[in-house]
Amino acid sequence: MKYGLSQKFNDLYNKDAQYAFFSPGRVNLIGEHIDYNGGLVMPCAVTFGTYLLLSPNNENIFRFRSLNFDEHPEISVQDSYTKDGDGWYNFPLGVIEHFTKDGHEIPGLDFLFFGDIPIGAGLSSSASIEVVTAFALNEIYKAGYSKLELVKIAKSVENNFMGLNCGIMDQFAVAFGEKDKAIVLNCDTLKYDIVPSNLGNHILAIINTNKSRKLVESKYNERVEECQSALKALNAELNINYLCDIDAAIFDKYKHLIADEVVRKRAEHVVKENDRVKLAADALAANNLTEFGKLMYASHDSLRDLYEVSGKELDAVVEYAKTNPHVAGARMTGAGFGGCAIALVKEDEFENFSRELIAYYTDKIGYAPSVYQSLIGTGASSL
Ligand code: GLA
Repeated sequence: MKYGLSQKFNDLYNKDAQYAFFSPGRVNLIGEHIDYNGGLVMPCAVTFGTYLLLSPNNENIFRFRSLNFDEHPEISVQDSYTKDGDGWYNFPLGVIEHFTKDGHEIPGLDFLFFGDIPIGAGLSSSASIEVVTAFALNEIYKAGYSKLELVKIAKSVENNFMGLNCGIMDQFAVAFGEKDKAIVLNCDTLKYDIVPSNLGNHILAIINTNKSRKLVESKYNERVEECQSALKALNAELNINYLCDIDAAIFDKYKHLIADEVVRKRAEHVVKENDRVKLAADALAANNLTEFGKLMYASHDSLRDLYEVSGKELDAVVEYAKTNPHVAGARMTGAGFGGCAIALVKEDEFENFSRELIAYYTDKIGYAPSVYQSLIGTGASSL
């Protein structure tokens, strides 16, 4: 097993792990802050994520251990569980709570988690740990949930146990991702297409600004509420379920109904970003990376100016990218407020890109970003 994890499990628990699972993280190519507005997103799973090794114990106790964190609590088996402070183990605990509430008996378990994914960096480390736990419990205790049901369970843990009103994109992407493919997901109907990620002679670079953030403490939930209030205002004359039910032309006709200027800007981002995803899917299918890249830049500008979830760190990455002729496009990815950006870079220029970007960013921000070449991997599975 990668990273010597089997041995590490054995060292910690003095026995072998009976089961092992993996769930990746994700990047979102385009379609940001769209999922909870019922529109189209285009994520793909990456090759790094969260490993989980586990074995039942007969002691009615959950032992939570992670190689990424020092806290390793022991929690006894109960009828119901509540969030315990800010610890990392709340993610698996929330999944146990969900299974338990649904009538599945989850007895004591020894867990060992390890993430080779940057944590809290906008690559869905949270969805990855939720989904890996849900996959594991489903398989070990034959709970019989479908993959989509597991995705919904993981999302519900994030919404109801962790308190973040996120949409379904991350959990869906880390469960349904396929190697070298992107997912075009309609977040209202949950219909999806798996499409080839035709990047030609470009590679996908991930740039971690190394400015981490906790979404629960960020303005994420505020943005969700702003979208709800925009929807309510538009529905004075329209009759739509989600902001993404209308396109830019209809929005322009009715936007006067949204009195609050800030809320109007939020809605404008959502509607136009959703339109951009449709164009981006067409561009990708037509191998038109130049057009795809332009849409990425437009997405970033809109997230910076209208949705206001970027920041000087993410902007610095995109500013540099725009000056490099070997970059087709770049944008922040995920929720924003720090975290990661992505860029489509000519393969044989990746090293120069990386070196120049690190110099530019360090000069501007005062510390270095981390730059990776990302591979598109497959969704959650047992190992
Ligand atoms: C976070 C959330 C997702 C999505 C993105 C923004 O990753 O978990 O549901 O809203 O932000 O697109």
